Amino acid sequence: MKFFIDTANLDQIREAQALGVLDGVTTNPSLMAKEGITGRNNILKHYVDICNIVEGDVSAEVIGTEFKAMIKEGEELAELHEQIVVKVPMIKDGVKALKYFTDKGIRTNCTLVFSPGQALLAAKAGATYVSPFIGRLDDISTDGLNLIAEIRLIYDNYAFETQILAASVRHTMHIIDCAKLGADVMTGPLSAIEGLLKHPLTDSGLAQFLADYKKGN
Ligand code: E4P
Repeated sequence: MKFFIDTANLDQIREAQALGVLDGVTTNPSLMAKEGITGRNNILKHYVDICNIVEGDVSAEVIGTEFKAMIKEGEELAELHEQIVVKVPMIKDGVKALKYFTDKGIRTNCTLVFSPGQALLAAKAGATYVSPFIGRLDDISTDGLNLIAEIRLIYDNYAFETQILAASVRHTMHIIDCAKLGADVMTGPLSAIEGLLKHPLTDSGLAQFLADYKKGN
């Protein structure tokens, strides 16, 4: 299972990278705005900065919603750095753009996916990654994890190579549940990744080991 961090914050990306288990980064326009990164040139520069910190894939989202605009933007993003994966929204022109990028050998991440049908279309169009947003489904009292299970079943039925990138992961249990369901990748905040570390018995056990060591030395 690949671990991506879902942020445009360089400090958090560095911290996750230093842990040694990071496989990539996902961003979106909201995450960029949250870091105060505005203006096309600053945004492009920020993507390159992120690529220079991590070794894996970095999703960079197109803003255009029409085919031609998406193509132009996506090609520009892909040329920025070899680690860039072009993030395309699940809309009609987005599906066309996914197919275009697939045919050109440009890797893609189909974003804003909320149903198995959308995920099936993304796979048919050859997306490298599909991003079902589980947290946002949970937010509206719909089982986000069930969507991961449905997509896994469909993709396995036909051996689709599109990787399931569980997105909108909000907490540690989401990561564990996605791992059980066979998501290929998860993207979440640093706090959710670090939550995997924690267990009170680890802390108390370590404290005891250190105390016993000190008694004999
Ligand atoms: C995915 O790539 C998105 O950036 C992200 O996971 C959305 O998460 P949110 O629902 O917490 O905003």
